Amino acid sequence: MENPTKKQIARDDASGLDRTLRPQTWDEYIGQQKTKENLRILLTAARERGHAAEHILLYGPPGLGKTTLANLVSKTLGTNMKITSGPAIERVGDLAAILTNLSPGDVLFIDEIHRLSKSIEEVLYPAMESGVLDIIIGKGPSARTVQLELPPFTMVAATTRISLLSSPLRSRFSGGTFRLDFYTDNEIATILKRSAELLAIKTTPAILERISKRCRATPRTANYLLKRCRDLAQLEGGALTDEIVDKTFTLLEIDSLGLGKPDRAVLEAIIHKFGGGPVGLNTIAAATGEEPSTIEDVIEPYLIRHGLLDRTPRGRVASGEAYSHIKIYNNQ
Ligand code: ADE
Repeated sequence: MENPTKKQIARDDASGLDRTLRPQTWDEYIGQQKTKENLRILLTAARERGHAAEHILLYGPPGLGKTTLANLVSKTLGTNMKITSGPAIERVGDLAAILTNLSPGDVLFIDEIHRLSKSIEEVLYPAMESGVLDIIIGKGPSARTVQLELPPFTMVAATTRISLLSSPLRSRFSGGTFRLDFYTDNEIATILKRSAELLAIKTTPAILERISKRCRATPRTANYLLKRCRDLAQLEGGALTDEIVDKTFTLLEIDSLGLGKPDRAVLEAIIHKFGGGPVGLNTIAAATGEEPSTIEDVIEPYLIRHGLLDRTPRGRVASGEAYSHIKIYNNQ
């Protein structure tokens, strides 16, 4: 194909595609049945009463659809959603600006809420509980507090690390705390079928199943792999075949369990450098060059779920399956 002119280049960046793939209705949102059911009741009842819904906390590993759920919450309530994140709120003034700009009933989505600073957290308590903002004006003996009344709003917060939230903050999510689980292969295949249709990629159930087994049970990764398979198919003549899919996995160094290089690096470090463990998180981080938080939030949850790794009080331990998996991978 000839090179397109600048004018012909359409948006193909991750955010653009992710937006088109994001489910727009509850029916399109696959899996997480119990969470969906509970949210639907909570939100529909609040809407019928004409009240803002109570605050909701979503937690679980990255890529499982927390932001997507928050979008569906605001759609169900029929209100706007403002998006921010824990690290983006640096000063009390930042939070005050966001909260005072909300319209009645709006959803405020705070991603990575575990990264909120203590001082901001304390301003958030009365805002969540009583709908007021206490602001201190001035310094020293002449300092005084003014109280601002806020419009009623629903906070939806997301975190990959519920254990880092203080219990006073956790207790203010009176609408409920919901844990998102990894998806089954069938659920992922259903998600991929819709994505393939939206992206106009021709697939078969066998191909979708093949991809679903390698995505670490995570929709975001599944959609990413589908797009990379599509890219290779395009360069190699058009059709998405089993061979193209397998070649994509080989190129991306994704193994039969869907583990990538960073996942294997953690297992290999534990096995080859620390005799299989137990070994501490920071030691693994130093040995692999990964951030401890990445290991804990992104890498470990899937390894644990797959029975490849165990977290014990004395440190991380690699399982027998981890030994055989790494051995087979390295002998290929
Ligand atoms: N994309 C991310 N999460 C999803 C889900 N649960 N269903 C469909 N598409 C998704």
